[in-house]
Amino acid sequence: MQQTALRFDPETYEVRTLERDGKTLVYRAFEHIPYVQYPVHPIQKLSVYVPETFYEDGGSVNGYTLHTAPIFFPNTVGGYMPGPEEAPGPDFMGRTNASFYALLHGYVVVSAGVRGRGCRDANSHNCGMAPADIVDLKAAVRWIRHNKDLLPGNAERIISNGTSAGGAMSSLLACTGNHPDYEPYLTALGAAKGRDDVFGASCYCPITNLDHADMAYEWEFHGIPDYHRMEFVQENGPKDHPNLLFGKPPKMRRVDAVMTDEMERCSDLLAPMFPTYFNSLGLHTEDGTALSMNPDGSGNFTDYILTHVLTAADKAMAEGKNIMEEPGVSDWLTVENGKAKAADWKKYVAFRTRMKPAPAFDDIRMGTAETELFGSADQRERHFTEFSMEHDTSGHPALADAEQIRLMNPMYYIKDARADKAPHVRIRHGAVDRDTSLAISEILYLSLRAAGVDADIAHPWGIPHAGDYDLPELFAWIDQIVKE
Ligand code: DHB
Repeated sequence: MQQTALRFDPETYEVRTLERDGKTLVYRAFEHIPYVQYPVHPIQKLSVYVPETFYEDGGSVNGYTLHTAPIFFPNTVGGYMPGPEEAPGPDFMGRTNASFYALLHGYVVVSAGVRGRGCRDANSHNCGMAPADIVDLKAAVRWIRHNKDLLPGNAERIISNGTSAGGAMSSLLACTGNHPDYEPYLTALGAAKGRDDVFGASCYCPITNLDHADMAYEWEFHGIPDYHRMEFVQENGPKDHPNLLFGKPPKMRRVDAVMTDEMERCSDLLAPMFPTYFNSLGLHTEDGTALSMNPDGSGNFTDYILTHVLTAADKAMAEGKNIMEEPGVSDWLTVENGKAKAADWKKYVAFRTRMKPAPAFDDIRMGTAETELFGSADQRERHFTEFSMEHDTSGHPALADAEQIRLMNPMYYIKDARADKAPHVRIRHGAVDRDTSLAISEILYLSLRAAGVDADIAHPWGIPHAGDYDLPELFAWIDQIVKE
């Protein structure tokens, strides 16, 4: 019988008890199950975790039972590196992870380990470059549906969750469901046949739309020459693969620098490219107002983004935060009668500061997470924009295949009728997160809404590049969409 190897065995598990943050979780663990027939890397396994209460007579948590519980589908992809399975417990920074709380809340958790940049196959060829990570996640979704009669949880209520590169993966799951473009890759791995669309996607600061992210970054940060960021310091593991040092918080180092003339020149050239792209999207606000950008980047889009920042400010004040006392905030935000009234875009951007020199993602010198993401089986890194290919200074210019670039960008699939969109998408991009332009999350959100998706966006106050910081709100959103 085809694909018997991919059947879930409900009899092989362990019951575990875990105490964290003063809470006790008892759960059933079905671990390290191969989800494709022909894996090319040992990371391609998934684990299923189920609240033990579901197995008691009439057992339910928050109204969910063994077969009605939504399936929370977190990925741990970060920096486009491999994302190992997530067991309930500490994350790589030592904080209690979302899976622990999801189980306590009454969800079934399915967590798949997926390939990422730096993975090599048995022949020492790269096997984690794009689109490996999204293909693996799709294969795991198919595995869930393939086993829906045996598996706890409701396979029609899969909610993916991810942060940063993992948020990008979650947005791809949301936008590319069942699209035939991915079929050859899934077939080659011996993935289960069937559907790979999801019901909901939670995307924290998705580092996505990579082939337009450089121009968006310069549209936002042009004119700011200095950049400031933390870098991982090598300890016991590969330098740029800190999440492989499982369970140990990585060491970080501060970098404060000023862009070189060459970087400034890239910024000057990239910034004016964004308005053409933006206008090509034909976006509208919720009330139907057309959004358009002048060649110099001005227009009503910045005001539109700021409405979300003002909402975040009001929420923070309602929660009792004295935000006007926070350093630098009164430089750009005006509050009247306890309500956020106005914000100055340029000053707000300056307040947040630039994190990356230009080009931010497809660096003309290579050496970014993204140039490695777009490598090939035997080339460690490649460009993925014409701009950086033309301006390459790495000495080994090469351009990724157009198909590889397309497969990694959810924006190309939103208007494609062959892609089944998740009906519900939640995007969060912290108000002081500078890892990518706020424009990237906003245009993803607006494009999804235009396609009829119930999309939701917020720029939570004071939040830098991070995810899973508002789990009670995330779970309230999941409860609401699954109970509708
Ligand atoms: C991530 C952060 C980045 O700044 C980036 O360019 C890619 C990925 C991350 O945290 O996953």
